[in-house]
Amino acid sequence: MGRAVRRRSLIVGAVAPGLVAALGLTALASPMATAAPASYFSPGAPGDGDPYFPDMGNGGYDVSHYDIKLAFSPTTHAISATTTILARATQNLSRFDLDFQGPLKISKLSVNGRKASFKRSGAQELVITPPHGLRRGTKFVVSVTYAGVPQKIDDPALGISGWAATKDGAVALNQPIGAATYYPVNDTTRDKATYSQTVSVPTGLTVLANGEPGPTTSRGGRTTFRWTMNRPMASELSMLAIGKYNVTRGKLRDGRPNITAIGQSVDTVAGQGKVFNQTTAQIVEWEQSLYGRYPFDSTGGIIGDVGVHYALETQGRPVYDQRSSKVSGDLLAHELGHQWFGDSLTPARWSDIWLNEGFATYSEWLYQEKFKGIPAQQSFTEAYTGEKDWTGKVANPGRDQIFDDLVYTRGALTLHALRLKIGDKAFFKILKQWPTTHRHGNVTTQTFIHYVEHQTHQNLSTFFTTWLYQPGKPKL
Ligand code: TRP
Ligand code: ZN
Repeated sequence: MGRAVRRRSLIVGAVAPGLVAALGLTALASPMATAAPASYFSPGAPGDGDPYFPDMGNGGYDVSHYDIKLAFSPTTHAISATTTILARATQNLSRFDLDFQGPLKISKLSVNGRKASFKRSGAQELVITPPHGLRRGTKFVVSVTYAGVPQKIDDPALGISGWAATKDGAVALNQPIGAATYYPVNDTTRDKATYSQTVSVPTGLTVLANGEPGPTTSRGGRTTFRWTMNRPMASELSMLAIGKYNVTRGKLRDGRPNITAIGQSVDTVAGQGKVFNQTTAQIVEWEQSLYGRYPFDSTGGIIGDVGVHYALETQGRPVYDQRSSKVSGDLLAHELGHQWFGDSLTPARWSDIWLNEGFATYSEWLYQEKFKGIPAQQSFTEAYTGEKDWTGKVANPGRDQIFDDLVYTRGALTLHALRLKIGDKAFFKILKQWPTTHRHGNVTTQTFIHYVEHQTHQNLSTFFTTWLYQPGKPKL
């Protein structure tokens, strides 16, 4: 087949059906696409190649937006949903995978408005074959309709993630795996996207999610909540909370909304809603002074009885699984510090998670210095002398160790040791410039090391190798 003809057939194969019809190309589309050599298109990779989570994420495309529309029933705990994904092919795709796992049943799936064939494969692959190949560089739309009772993940080393049922609803926390328990997703930190979440619940329940609220509408005993996250977000930081919540609305000094909520079952101390809201704003303002402008369009937090036993830095609005009286300033400083370190700047690989947890833990030390009179130097000395286990590697802890003390405490120790080495002036400049330079991007330990070396004009390879890449207690 001639080259020009082939190229044209490829273009037709990737165009939305409405457009195909509008151009009068309907009759051409099928035969010409079939005539293109199959070898010209190839399947996207079933994983994004993270050494700790090889099946997570996929290759061959880049998602720009998720539109999740979901109805929830608290009596059956079932959802029924349609997720629409806008993406762009990064190779000529004959087929591609999304991550999707558990018992939810798919009833309808289309690519560019046309029914596409699909099969579920392994634990989390949804393999989609569109009627025509998708040409590299073209945008496409995937729409998946599904229903069922989502099942959380309980990983022996990493705890609970995904859609977790609660007494009065559900909370979805997705780090590091979990998003795929309730929506089809390219579940890798390297494919950030914007989100809209539209959730219908029986009137009386409240829905919270990432970002800013849209209009809430009620009809026939059900209420629909709308939330949008208009800044790039990694799927592990997406969040949904459904239940009985007391909501408090405030603002940051510059007017950005500060929306906090406390689950009614854990809102046991009078006035706690206001305190939680104001403390959140106060810490975000203080962290802005250290780390540069807060990277999202709203802030807040959710305290609830989730049952996961951790707090999570979900983007724009962290979740604290605790009674309201127990949520401390330290913990708020940690999860809100993550908004810069982890959320806006997200490691490309999970082995670099110290770039999140080290900085978030150091945020606690700085908080204690500022608000409690405990110098960071004291926190450092106590942790340095108190730490018994020096066997692991901070910048490559191992898949089952990503939430270990090694990553948190020794990550913070590394930062304070760096501060001692390069001095306060250079250190605090980096603390502000690093998240500003890489805002909304992906980062690696190597990028960080080069950045610090560039800023300080020092060769720090021995320093970082000792603190991050070698086991053993570094000498001071
Ligand atoms: N990354 C969370 C935080 O620091 C904590 C976390 C998430 C966690 N999942 C976990 C801790 C699983 C222990 C186990 O802020
Ligand atoms: Zn953390």
